[in-house]
Amino acid sequence: MMLHIPQVLSKPAVAELRALIDAADWIDGNATSGSQSALAKRNEQLPEGSEAARLAGERVLDALARSPLFVTAALPQTVFPPLFNRYGGGQAFGTHIDNAVRQTRTGDLRIRSDLSATLFLSEPEDYDGGELLVEDTYGVHEVKLAAGDLILYPASSLHQVTPVTRGVRTASFFWIQSMVREDARRALLFQMDIAIQQLAGKVGAGAPELVSLTGTYHNLLRMWAEV
Ligand code: NI
Repeated sequence: MMLHIPQVLSKPAVAELRALIDAADWIDGNATSGSQSALAKRNEQLPEGSEAARLAGERVLDALARSPLFVTAALPQTVFPPLFNRYGGGQAFGTHIDNAVRQTRTGDLRIRSDLSATLFLSEPEDYDGGELLVEDTYGVHEVKLAAGDLILYPASSLHQVTPVTRGVRTASFFWIQSMVREDARRALLFQMDIAIQQLAGKVGAGAPELVSLTGTYHNLLRMWAEV
């Protein structure tokens, strides 16, 4: 399941974050790639573990924790410390699948990447190209979102970033180990949760049928969750 989550960061929060990271030193993006994706990757990145990346990453994590849509869709067990990259001058990232297991540079955190996420930090009109193309069984999805918006997609997907031919595309990217490993199960739980919330608005949260449905949601989560 792919999901667009609008306004994870407000425009002022994006501006603050950009001021923080734009002033920092950036390095060649291949510092984080596997050997195969290094061949396809041309961009710049904030050094993992640098002060700017750590501070900016904490802001992103705080925003994620305050986003009910992110929490219900991702059912996060662990979110990898957010990283930051930027593309300009024709830079791109060719088609690839992200590594299954990610480990921080210091080795103190290791996760299975169930979900990949990109948080856009540039407005779409500020650059040409730079679309995130994600392939699934329904075809190729083209993603280019407003600054502050997030796209969540299965980490098992083939994806690429097309060349940025004008301006600069800055973003945060990271991976999530979900409590529910399988995408299809997570999608079912998400759809059920959203329907329950919508129904609660119509019949009131105390309706016996809704209590029963909510219980069923939790019993499915209990069956599938690894915590
Ligand atoms: Ni990727």
